[in-house]
Amino acid sequence: VSEEVDNDVRECAREALRLIDQYEGDVSKIKEGLVAPVRLLVDKPDLLTLSVYREGNHVGFSRYLYYDPGLAIIMAHLPKDSTIPVHDHGGWEALTPYRGLIRHSLYRRVDEDSVPGHARLEVIEERVLNPGDISLLVPPKDIHGWSALKDDTYTIAFLGAEFDQTRRYYQPDQESYLIRDQKSWRTGR
Ligand SMILES: [Fe+2]
Repeated sequence: VSEEVDNDVRECAREALRLIDQYEGDVSKIKEGLVAPVRLLVDKPDLLTLSVYREGNHVGFSRYLYYDPGLAIIMAHLPKDSTIPVHDHGGWEALTPYRGLIRHSLYRRVDEDSVPGHARLEVIEERVLNPGDISLLVPPKDIHGWSALKDDTYTIAFLGAEFDQTRRYYQPDQESYLIRDQKSWRTGR
């Protein structure tokens, strides 16, 4: 664990929590408010040295930049063309590249959620994000997936809560999902 407390990271975390609290579900307001604190992090050349080890969900390289029970700031590394599978959260997430470039898709469910293992998704936003560009997920619009368009792409994710132990991973083309419990997979619910 890093001994030093970085004031920019701490300020950014504090501001993110304040915005979430103040604007609740107002995506555009929260996003607007996050631009400056996120820019502060993206502009830090030494950000990686301030992070600590974390076991990744999808990627080999995952690091905590900040953690408290109400907010985790997580950095991940993706080689070019690697893809983060479409998943949901049950909580909010703000995502920006730190280095590189990503193609990010945000989805919402358009079926009734009545058939286990079945899900119909609709793309509500598809964007190419540069460092500092923010995508914000707020339930129920909290399903997303992305891919790295450049080598050595790093992302910074702000998560309102740790990932659920049980999460859904969607296959939008097949209108289906799988459930992952920690390390194992099962169908339906
Ligand atoms: Fe996510």
